[in-house]
Amino acid sequence: MTAFTLPKWYDLHTHLRQDGLIAPIIRAHLNMACCGVVAMPNTKPPAAKIRKDDPLPYTSIEEYRELILRSGGDGFTDFIVPLYLTKDTTPQMIADGAKSGLLRAVKYYPPHGTTGADFSTALSGLIQSGVIKALEDHNILLCVHGEEHGMASEDYFSRSSNAEEYFYRERMPRLIEEFPKLRVVCEHITTKVAVDLVKKSGGGVVANITPQHLIYTVGHLLQGLKYHLYCLPLVKFAEDRQALRDAVLDPNNTKFFAGTDSAPHTVKATECGCAAGCFTAGIAPQLYAEAFEMAGADLSQSAQQKIFEKFLCHVGPDFYGLEKPKGTFTLVKEPQALAKTETPDGDITPLPLGLGQKTIPWSIKA
Ligand code: DOR
Ligand code: ZN
Repeated sequence: MTAFTLPKWYDLHTHLRQDGLIAPIIRAHLNMACCGVVAMPNTKPPAAKIRKDDPLPYTSIEEYRELILRSGGDGFTDFIVPLYLTKDTTPQMIADGAKSGLLRAVKYYPPHGTTGADFSTALSGLIQSGVIKALEDHNILLCVHGEEHGMASEDYFSRSSNAEEYFYRERMPRLIEEFPKLRVVCEHITTKVAVDLVKKSGGGVVANITPQHLIYTVGHLLQGLKYHLYCLPLVKFAEDRQALRDAVLDPNNTKFFAGTDSAPHTVKATECGCAAGCFTAGIAPQLYAEAFEMAGADLSQSAQQKIFEKFLCHVGPDFYGLEKPKGTFTLVKEPQALAKTETPDGDITPLPLGLGQKTIPWSIKA
């Protein structure tokens, strides 16, 4: 039976939420040997100011950090809450935040483009206001949800292009050119266009990739309308998935790393639509191992285990400058049964279970 031991890892893009969800969700992360996270700031209200004493009507990253710590996050080696960029973000806020040490990263969402993105503001406005320049000047990471916002439905997802491709063709190259020292994390990339852009950019531009985008294509979502696979950016085509697979399987990979975008929703399907987000907390290393195998990796071979380890444990934390974790865990090729995660606010269905799969091929031993 294949088994291999890895250092604990950081989930560099996840959603911990608030209220009754946060403690069980953090526990799920700790249970999958996760030693820390980048916790997305699309809370209610968003974590869009730095200090509690700032009168703006948002959550502060100071408060959200405290909530995470007292909800079990004190078990993490380290974690980062990026500042949610809004129309109220100023260059002074970035400068002050950087000086205080509380601000390490910010998050750009396409306005109204996804769950919790209603407070966001267009990238052009953030460039004009000097916010992006301040990020570059103070060495604060820009985490980007790279999808064009406000597109006509015909263009949002068409045969020739989609919202992510448009963003990585039109917006990102200009951003990088105008701010060459800006450090950018392209979040949950899904297309070959995005992979190619990251590859040809300098060392300051990197990307994280979710398990679902390595495993599935849009056909898996549409055949039977498997709404548990509905997340944003959408799963794409086989060529896109192949580009993602090639990127993570490259033995010289220094740019592509794990970030699950695990996004718990107690209600996925609604009367008139579906909440975007796949829930993978608790089972992500197992799913990444499955994804690597589907991509052709032989995880019984130590050279390929090393490539997997790079993707899961090293590339991202090195870029973020995170503390090295102490413990290890072991991935075992032994089926694991799936169950819903129970929370005081309702049950959450892990992605494979939502797709009708009762077990996954890999399990974890602490
Ligand atoms: O699918 C998604 N779910 N994409 C996002 O950008 C947000 C996330 C969420 O918060 O549920
Ligand atoms: Zn996300």
